[in-house]
Amino acid sequence: MAAKFKSEKVGIVGSGLIGRSWAMLFASVGYQVTIFDIVPKQVTDALEDIKVQLKTLEKDDLLRGKLNADEQIQCIKGTTDLATAVKDAIFVQECVPENLELKKKVFQDLDKVVGDNTILSSSTSTTLPSLFSDGLKHKAQVVVSHPVNPPYYVPLVEIVPAPWTKPEVAKKTREIMLEIGQEPVSLSREIDGFVLNRIQYAILNEVWRLVDDGIVDVKDVDKVMSEGLGMRYAFLGSLETAHLNAEGMKSYIERYGDTIYNVSEKFGKNPRMTTSKSADTVCQQLNEMVPLDQLQKRRAWRDACLTRLSILKKEMKAKY
Ligand code: NAI
Repeated sequence: MAAKFKSEKVGIVGSGLIGRSWAMLFASVGYQVTIFDIVPKQVTDALEDIKVQLKTLEKDDLLRGKLNADEQIQCIKGTTDLATAVKDAIFVQECVPENLELKKKVFQDLDKVVGDNTILSSSTSTTLPSLFSDGLKHKAQVVVSHPVNPPYYVPLVEIVPAPWTKPEVAKKTREIMLEIGQEPVSLSREIDGFVLNRIQYAILNEVWRLVDDGIVDVKDVDKVMSEGLGMRYAFLGSLETAHLNAEGMKSYIERYGDTIYNVSEKFGKNPRMTTSKSADTVCQQLNEMVPLDQLQKRRAWRDACLTRLSILKKEMKAKY
């Protein structure tokens, strides 16, 4: 029988929103997780919060992995010493705030205390790994594993190597992500925005332009995603959607390829939100839809929707 717990250790550096989620994901398959934070109270708060989250997930029948909540809680410890958190770890996930100078400092600190076999992975959503790993002794062990919030329900992880990342490091990272139940995509090289944000920015640009040009208002343009495109995109990517929308992709290219090109040629320059004349209008309409003091309530509703969607996706995957 396979052992319930793993002997391998994982270190989490930074115990905010994302660090806590990673700790729970690694513990769900029995890794020995140690959380480090520069603020000691963050560590104790994180351990307490994780305990509550795991117990609630268990009660709601949403707990991931085969271990029960108490067993998963047992897998997670805290420390206020970086070297202790990463000692003998096979994998370290950095989760400090998005600030290049801070990331550089944290990776320099990690460089001094890790061995040659530890993968040094960053949660960064925007910083190229070469920018904070250049010059490190262990730079070939650095990779980005960019999650999507909330990672417990949105499984995508973008794996982004620096030019000097050892291929085995990116490969092993992908294997570990699959093992903890996430859905990795592997980029062949680093690129600004990675993949998820490049696509997200393309959508935001076009949505902004349509509102800016007075074609639709904020509510209606968002409806195009939530009640239209997003319904399909929750299950299929844009290319497979096209493949199914004709008699295969070849037929789609023949039917729609030139139209797509001709319309896209008319898009024009990318809008700049910071100087756009429409910024006040967009903010005002959004504040009417979701007043700022209701953001937390709306986020809780979004997370509840994602929870239900993740269950539905699992069910539907099993049916195909
Ligand atoms: P957060 O602000 O919730 O937590 C950051 C934690 O890092 C805090 O507990 C802070 O005390 C700690 N910290 C600060 N300096 C430190 C240091 N030198 N050593 C150790 N710990 C330190 O941040 P969050 O949202 O968890 O983000 C972490 C990373 O994950 C960022 O790079 C962010 O871009 C990325 N990310 C965040 C997403 C989100 O939606 N929040 C989604 C995907 C990635």
